[in-house]
Amino acid sequence: MSFYRSFYNNTITEEKISQNVTLSGWVYRRRDHGGVIFIDLRDRTGYCQIVFRKEISETAHQIADKLRSEYVIKVTGKVVEREQENINPNLVTGKVEVEVSEIVILSESETLPFSIDDKEENETNEEIRLRYRYLDIRRNDMQQNLIKRHTFLKEIRNGLDEKKFIEIETPILNKATPEGARDFIVPSRLNENCFYALPQSPQIFKQILMVGAMEKYYQIVKCFRDEDLRSDRQPEFTQIDIETSFLTEEEILTEIEEIIFPALKKTFPEKMENFSIAKMTYDEAMESYGCDRPDTRFEMKLINVEETVKNCQFQVFQNMLKDENSLIRCICVSDGKNLSRKDIDDLTKYVGKFGAKGLAWMRVTDNGLESNIVKFFNEEIQKGLLEKTNAKNGDLLFFVADKKKIVFQALANLRLKIAEMLNMIDQQKMNFIWIVDFPLLEYDETEKRLSAVHHPFTMPKEVEVLQEIENLPLPEKIKKLSSLKSLAYDLVLNGVELGGGSVRIHDAKIQKQIFNLLGISKEQAEEKFGFLLKALFYGTPPHGGIAFGVDRIIMLMQNLSSIRDTIAFPKTQKGICLMSESPSPIQDEDLEELHIKNIFKD
Ligand code: AMO
Ligand code: AMP
Repeated sequence: MSFYRSFYNNTITEEKISQNVTLSGWVYRRRDHGGVIFIDLRDRTGYCQIVFRKEISETAHQIADKLRSEYVIKVTGKVVEREQENINPNLVTGKVEVEVSEIVILSESETLPFSIDDKEENETNEEIRLRYRYLDIRRNDMQQNLIKRHTFLKEIRNGLDEKKFIEIETPILNKATPEGARDFIVPSRLNENCFYALPQSPQIFKQILMVGAMEKYYQIVKCFRDEDLRSDRQPEFTQIDIETSFLTEEEILTEIEEIIFPALKKTFPEKMENFSIAKMTYDEAMESYGCDRPDTRFEMKLINVEETVKNCQFQVFQNMLKDENSLIRCICVSDGKNLSRKDIDDLTKYVGKFGAKGLAWMRVTDNGLESNIVKFFNEEIQKGLLEKTNAKNGDLLFFVADKKKIVFQALANLRLKIAEMLNMIDQQKMNFIWIVDFPLLEYDETEKRLSAVHHPFTMPKEVEVLQEIENLPLPEKIKKLSSLKSLAYDLVLNGVELGGGSVRIHDAKIQKQIFNLLGISKEQAEEKFGFLLKALFYGTPPHGGIAFGVDRIIMLMQNLSSIRDTIAFPKTQKGICLMSESPSPIQDEDLEELHIKNIFKD
């Protein structure tokens, strides 16, 4: 195959017995049995045992004596059968070994800061792993993650290619894109006082490509968002970005399914043995699960008990019933008897994080409902609650009464927390759900303004409403606009948003109207998105698209707890690359050239 190797390690099997082979790789484990030295040689494909016997080559044996972990070597020798007691059934190469006649040390290694062993991973501090990332990615787990990532993207490209999508690159040095996060800014040396923004997504450019009659675009593309990082977020991440013309919302979803699911099945066949695809409206998701990315691998849905408890004596509930912006919702924890009083206290604290002022609870026992507050609920109401919640003996009911947003957030998170505590999640299930009919706009009470739920280019579901509201008084206008739905959709898997998109506005007049509703002035719209608005006037096809987060998909499919394990060179929670130590300060002269003065220095 090459000067350094005739075969990869994982091809050294019984068929090659008696053949002479040349292998190259890293010294993994070394066992010295007096006259015989065994080494597990590692390359990207796996392990092969090589053996040094004095009687085969005295010189090779002497060199082998000097080998240490992670030395890079090239060996030549004969494939022989292993002795019966040395057979390793867990390795493809487990029945054979290579009797080395020649060895060259290609490079030596210092003592490692941690061992290249998957089992050690949890014990090795992540900071050290990231600092020595080149060693970390030698580990089999990391290699598999990166290889799976490659395979998945290859399959996605094949699928898109079959459907006649064309990969087109869009600029990285850019104008700001409105995806809702902060921009990373790049100063321009040639244009004093001017800055580029790194793209939060190629949104505007992909729409302009539709105006440019490319009809079907895609790009596997880096996006940059300067936001607070979590375990499933990175400041730079990769999207599979797609846009198509002349398809309806329904047709876009079908087309996307025909691309994404075959690629997932081919890359992760074991994971995709038990998958389902459902569709749910945003309203249904909120009412049943309290969030727009429900994990439906377990039930425990939110139950509206307002009608049932309307005559109770519990003051908290009575106060909420009087307020039109508040709700009372309940969840029924099946076999909740396994939660102790202390668990309930901890969960009460937990929901406090989401603003809930308390967590009411009732246990279902042989003697009916029991809790610190059942005295406020007469027998008829208690019976009503049991019926409404379908609760059985041993179950536990939790109630949150508060403003709508708090109730949903608290119970959505409580549901997940309890499912985890009581091991209710079937890990084999892969529940994909399209969430559709998102609201177009949301009203921020404190800032007193409307903002786009997806982004400002999303098509309203009922365009006529935009005309109807023109002459309405402000409160009614806001009410009507807040309930307006859009042609936006997300694909959710087991409670994680994998991707989102929408049908876009292809009419410049509607686009201007939406900017206006969002409080973006004519001048601002012109300044920020003038080029898009202008383009929309020159014959724009109906179009729409989606973007998937590649890193998140790999994270879920490979069962990883951190998005960093899907990326060769990720950043920490503070946005730092520990290996290269970026970001880093730059010289004053360099700043000067960029027309920037560091006023914080000295
Ligand atoms: P959106 O903002 O929903 O849509 O992003 C699409 C997908 O990108 C992934 N993602 C991230 N992954 C890792 N780290 C991050 N910081 C991060 N932010 C987002 C998520 C998300 O679902 N232009 C629109 C798409 C469209 O309308 O076509 C957009 O960017 O998986
Ligand atoms: P209190 O009347 O404050 O002693 O609360 C009695 C019970 O009701 C406690 O278990 C509280 O956790 C719970 N509780 C208080 N406020 C709320 C609320 N807004 N929603 C649900 N339960 C509450």
